Amino acid sequence: MTAQPTSPAIQAEGITKRFGAKQALGGVDLEVPPGTVLGVLGPNGAGKTTMVRILSTLLRPDAGHARVAGRDVVADPEGVRRRLGLSGQYAAVDEKLTGRENLCLVARLYGMRRAAARRRAAELLADFRLDEAADRPSGTYSGGMRRRLDLAGALVARPPVVVLDEPTTGLDPRGRSDTWHSVRELVGAGTTVLLTTQYLEEADQLADSILVIDRGTAIARGPAADLKARVGGERLALTVPDPEARSQTFGILGSLGAHEPELDRRTGRFTVTTDYGAHTLEYALGCLRLAGIAVQDVELAPPTLDDVFLALTGGPSRGTAGVPVAAAVSAGSVPGPGAGEGQPWHG
Ligand SMILES: Nc1ncnc2c1ncn2[C@@H]1O[C@H](COP(=O)(O)OP(=O)(O)OP(=O)(O)O)[C@@H](O)[C@H]1O
Ligand SMILES: [Mg+2]
Repeated sequence: MTAQPTSPAIQAEGITKRFGAKQALGGVDLEVPPGTVLGVLGPNGAGKTTMVRILSTLLRPDAGHARVAGRDVVADPEGVRRRLGLSGQYAAVDEKLTGRENLCLVARLYGMRRAAARRRAAELLADFRLDEAADRPSGTYSGGMRRRLDLAGALVARPPVVVLDEPTTGLDPRGRSDTWHSVRELVGAGTTVLLTTQYLEEADQLADSILVIDRGTAIARGPAADLKARVGGERLALTVPDPEARSQTFGILGSLGAHEPELDRRTGRFTVTTDYGAHTLEYALGCLRLAGIAVQDVELAPPTLDDVFLALTGGPSRGTAGVPVAAAVSAGSVPGPGAGEGQPWHG
């Protein structure tokens, strides 16, 4: 019934999708070996949800092929749906039904008998900390609770492949860590997971491999460690509380790093990448002290996936991260992320 152990659980080749004049996907390939997690990262509008909808047979690609658990998404959508659990970007729960009823309904749709459906629902309600609210209409649930109910729905039939579109967006830290725990359990039991996320830390935590897409195109792929290595260097971060001192700080840090420093204007936090770690740190602090600039929260850390994304997409111009300090200093004010663009990239 399932794919050969050696063949990928999810495989897509040259997936292209256009909405009118908008090219949402311009020929994306991906492959997820069985029992592993692929994290699909990208800014708003990158094409993540479009890819998820194609893989889960909700949308037909204009070109390209995709197979899920050995079934072609276009030729055998039924076969794909039977083997796939989906939790979409926006929780899809029936608000009039209780949490328990929602899960039982899904279980029955998957062909489970009534008693088995009730057992499975009770299990998932407990796993997702919904047992107390299980018997009231899900329309009364908070956003995070709906999200958790929707996730539970994706797991009802213990499908071999699970696709989660931004599973933790809108969850509180506890909800997020519960979700991570569930994903790890699933994978431990042999499930293959594709998840999209805006949280680079999440991909770093969960994914065996990461695919970065931007404007419908794959711009990088590989294990988190490889992506980090591509950026190279360590990240020196420090906060300059005095706004008046930031222009001078930019000059000093700019002379040290391989790239222009970035500034989070709200916090006064500078970040610069350096290949000379502790030496750069010492030198920078010496220069700043001589200039009479007070600094706080100095940190030297290996590159994060945020840095990777910045390096790959050529910077924060699309509202995905910090703002180059040059712009901040010269403009006096810094535009926030563009309308409609979330900004969880920097936590
Ligand atoms: N049904 C549609 N009709 C028209 N344009 C669409 C449709 N669905 C997606 N798009 C466009 O395709 C592009 C990719 O959208 P998609 O939803 O896949 O992005 P995403 O990476 O999931 O973004 P987000 O992080 O905001 O969820 C966007 O420019 C979007 O406006
Ligand atoms: Mg999306």
